[in-house]
Amino acid sequence: MEPREFFIEDRLERFRLKAFCNLGESGLGFFRLEEVLGMAGISVSDLLDLPMNDAPNQGSLELRSAIAKLYPGVSPEQVLVTTGTGEALYLAFHMMVKPKTKVALIWPAFQALYEIPKMLGAEIIPVPQEKAFLASTWKEIDANLYILNHPHNPTGKTFPDAEWENLLSWFREKKKLVLFDEHYRFLPGEGSLGKTGVDPNHSFFGTGSFTKCFGVTGLRVGWLVAEESFVQRARSFKDYLTHTVSPISEKIALGLLENKESFLPGIQTRVRNNIAKFTSLWRKLPHTKDFTVPQGGLVGWLMLEPGISSEAYADRLFEKTGVFVLPGSNFEEEGFLRIGFGETEERMAEGLKRWSECTDLI
Ligand SMILES: Cc1ncc(COP(=O)(O)O)c(C=O)c1O
Repeated sequence: MEPREFFIEDRLERFRLKAFCNLGESGLGFFRLEEVLGMAGISVSDLLDLPMNDAPNQGSLELRSAIAKLYPGVSPEQVLVTTGTGEALYLAFHMMVKPKTKVALIWPAFQALYEIPKMLGAEIIPVPQEKAFLASTWKEIDANLYILNHPHNPTGKTFPDAEWENLLSWFREKKKLVLFDEHYRFLPGEGSLGKTGVDPNHSFFGTGSFTKCFGVTGLRVGWLVAEESFVQRARSFKDYLTHTVSPISEKIALGLLENKESFLPGIQTRVRNNIAKFTSLWRKLPHTKDFTVPQGGLVGWLMLEPGISSEAYADRLFEKTGVFVLPGSNFEEEGFLRIGFGETEERMAEGLKRWSECTDLI
């Protein structure tokens, strides 16, 4: 059993460190370690003092407690610290998906959300993004597992409050198994923390992280939230994979969660400004057709004029301007570009200027 190639990764590897203006990634532009320690309220001597033993297999109690506080009614025993959200998803899918399990999810999607279930023999039910943010759509779908990535990558769409409540009530009433991937929850359209659907007592499990939203993807910390016995089984599975998270990452992760109010508003302002700038300018970008303003997260989905290869467009854009975007073809959906909003405001402005002036893209 082997998943297919991870389509976005080859391009990310080639361009993310070279791009003058990086709109290809779904994470905030990274901070340097010195800045991260400052954000986390950790001194260098604190770090030098750190015992380099294995962290607890489930994650330290302090870190699990800080994560549990992000969810109403969740206890630290219902949290497993993982190496990125990717590992949390991998574990959860292995425990939830068997051959012929029907898995419904918003389409297009972050590939791991369907590729790993597919590898395990699932039947994938893609729910087109155009109608996926309405409760009525899901009520017509009979699946064994519903995956809601919210805010959604790659469109930046979110559920309006009334649709969200309506859908959760239906899931609860029908006793459905749901996995909420809330990786971008720290960047809601408004306010400081987006809504969560996670409720382990009703089989509404969750995966999450802050690494993309806080600009610290290299920390590789994520988590799974689930009912206690599920967490214990996932922990045992994790013992065969990454076993524990580095104590350095754990310490920094805890500091960042405890101090987030001191730096998160600045990050949110930067992302919202970038989205506003892009929204005011996208019509000037050559051969573009439509754009829905993201309501959360760090990415948006820009429609191209019909007949244009998204890959050819993205390649040429990088060659001519140094602006890096991801082609829709990497999400198995032609005719779109995924735009990231995690760049600095200065580089975003300069990148968009160069892009809009580029008359020979096609
Ligand atoms: C929706 C979604 N889930 C999970 C992941 C994986 O996250 P991590 O880098 O923490 O493994 C990503 C990464 O882009 C993502 O967009």
